[in-house]
Amino acid sequence: MTTPEPIVSVRGLRKRFGDNEVLKGIDLDVRPGEVVVVMGPSGSGKTTLIRCLNLLEEPDTGTVSMCGNQVDCGGRGRSRAAQVREIRRRSAMVFQQFNLFPHLTALQNVMEGPISVRGLRRTEADGLGRRLLALVGLDEKCDCYPATLSGGQKQRVAIARALAMEPQVILFDEPTSALDPELHAEVLQVIRDLAGNGMTMVIVTHETAFARDVADRVVFMDGGNVIEEAPPQRFFTAPAHPRVQAFLRLVGPSHNGHPSPQNVERT
Ligand SMILES: Nc1ncnc2c1ncn2[C@@H]1O[C@H](COP(=O)(O)OP(=O)(O)OP(=O)(O)O)[C@@H](O)[C@H]1O
Ligand SMILES: [Mg+2]
Repeated sequence: MTTPEPIVSVRGLRKRFGDNEVLKGIDLDVRPGEVVVVMGPSGSGKTTLIRCLNLLEEPDTGTVSMCGNQVDCGGRGRSRAAQVREIRRRSAMVFQQFNLFPHLTALQNVMEGPISVRGLRRTEADGLGRRLLALVGLDEKCDCYPATLSGGQKQRVAIARALAMEPQVILFDEPTSALDPELHAEVLQVIRDLAGNGMTMVIVTHETAFARDVADRVVFMDGGNVIEEAPPQRFFTAPAHPRVQAFLRLVGPSHNGHPSPQNVERT
């Protein structure tokens, strides 16, 4: 069997904020249907990396390719702008803090992108929104405003909203870390179901039990570099790099919350 072409591919990605070089030349491939979990201590560049994958953050140098659209970072030009638009259209991002519109109901939050970006008619978007809210277990909450929803419910609305854009890749940045521990499971189950249905996902998370369960590959970042990349069985039982070993000792074998990985001694 031949390995399918990557759906996401980055090469030599570098990003600095002032004097702080946050990404120091990242190479990463994600294949269709693959679930890649990104782990690493606080400040190692995980959020910056996934924001660079859909060009929400502009890398300084390197290339980003998604679904056949390649952007050479640091360049200019009209064809490049079109490629950036394509990449953003084909990917969706789910944030730690949900980022729902507070003045819109759950259903209106999900309908907004399909209407304004995909050009769906209101009735079509309404049907789609209701189907997706049912998919994440929130059919009863269509008319509720975000302020009246629990954190786990808000995050499930945010996932439905991401799905409404029919993305080919979903990028998650610590989707459970703003939630009370008892609300983690409901969000993780939705993500597990998406994985089971073959959705391609890149997930930044500290939840080791979940990562073991759902990841095809774990990528570990430290100081702006990927220092280890392995299937979860190997990553969690026999990591090669001492930094990863120290990190896993800190978070434990089946951590379900937010550790303090910044406390891991820097090397
Ligand atoms: N917009 C920005 N302007 C300046 N510095 C930034 C910006 N965004 C991130 N940084 C810096 O880049 C570094 C990496 O940040 P990033 O948010 O990618 O880390 P992280 O691995 O996601 O950490 P955490 O686990 O705490 O979320 C940090 O030193 C951070 O202060
Ligand atoms: Mg982060």
